[in-house]
Amino acid sequence: MARIDLFEMERMQSLYWHRVEYDLSESGVVPMTLRELLGADADALLEAPLGYPLSEGAEETRAAVATWYPGATAEHVTLCNGGSEANLLVLWTLLEPGDRLAFMVPNYLQGWGLGRHFGTATDTFGLRREGDRWALDLEALERAVTARTKVVMVCNPNNPTGAVLTEAEMEAVIEVAERVGAWIVADEIYRGAELEGEAVSPTFWGRAERVVVTSGLSKAFGMPGLRSGWIVAPPELIREIWVRHDYTTLTPSAISDRITGVALRPEVRERVLARTRGIVRANLPVLAGWAGELGRVSFLPPVAGAIAYLAYDPPIEARDLAERLRLEQSVLVVPADMFGVRERAFRVGFGYDPEYLRKGLERIGLVLRELG
Ligand SMILES: Cc1ncc(COP(=O)(O)O)c(C=O)c1O
Repeated sequence: MARIDLFEMERMQSLYWHRVEYDLSESGVVPMTLRELLGADADALLEAPLGYPLSEGAEETRAAVATWYPGATAEHVTLCNGGSEANLLVLWTLLEPGDRLAFMVPNYLQGWGLGRHFGTATDTFGLRREGDRWALDLEALERAVTARTKVVMVCNPNNPTGAVLTEAEMEAVIEVAERVGAWIVADEIYRGAELEGEAVSPTFWGRAERVVVTSGLSKAFGMPGLRSGWIVAPPELIREIWVRHDYTTLTPSAISDRITGVALRPEVRERVLARTRGIVRANLPVLAGWAGELGRVSFLPPVAGAIAYLAYDPPIEARDLAERLRLEQSVLVVPADMFGVRERAFRVGFGYDPEYLRKGLERIGLVLRELG
């Protein structure tokens, strides 16, 4: 059988998320309904023909997506099935045997596994705690990027920490990648779910020639069930990606294509993202209050996303703690190793019902207290 690393987090979630009483492993927000998004127009969807959509998505949809990326047009955009297919198609297109991927950690490890699968190796560089924020470890980035590096992949805003790179850090990533002629692949699926202020996190799009952005409706837009994702890239690369898309899923789903076109219209997008920001801003204090009262855990406040990465004191491996929480308390969290770091930490999602969150956290507290 062809070898590929187990994508442990996805495997764990797909096995257990629906079997536990409190699933705090989810990284999105309470999903939107069609009626909430479309209002009175929801009925029009019943008339939508369920034929094959265009492979790359409707022109109108791609143009709507492009409005979120300064300088992009419809020809820079292709739609696909989820942010995960976007990442798969991009890394499949860019990496060949002999190539190395430089990959930010902690992170959603899809890229890490794909780098090893399509290329020869994945080298990691870290975010590290610096005062009250997560900072890019520049020295580690310099070490990870060599003449063999074909792609530098970042997740910004970051999963699992909710950290956002500063302008200077983004420029540093670009400079280091450009020095060796590498592409930058920025997974920006949490962009738009900011915890403070009105501005969305900056995009990598438009900062250098060799930049690809992957994203979709699953996280900041609160519509993971649509399986809507997209890629923003130079048109020549979009054509190469399309060649691979013909081998995977051919097209987005007709419904996703249509709804993505509506959701990304600037006035609708603002409404959808305002809803998400309302949820994360209301719920973060629940998590912070619990953590403050319990002690034993600490976290740097996320800048964007409905996720927090909690370091804890009791001397137990993250994987073992997560297993205990699942088996003894029926709570699902994601241990640090599933983000590529071995340390005493785990991720919780706080984008769902606050009462549900509170109860799930209480159960985590029971175990942590017992552990001392
Ligand atoms: C950083 C990141 N990229 C991509 C995905 C996958 O997104 P989708 O559900 O749209 O395939 C996830 C899901 O957790 C994610 O965290």
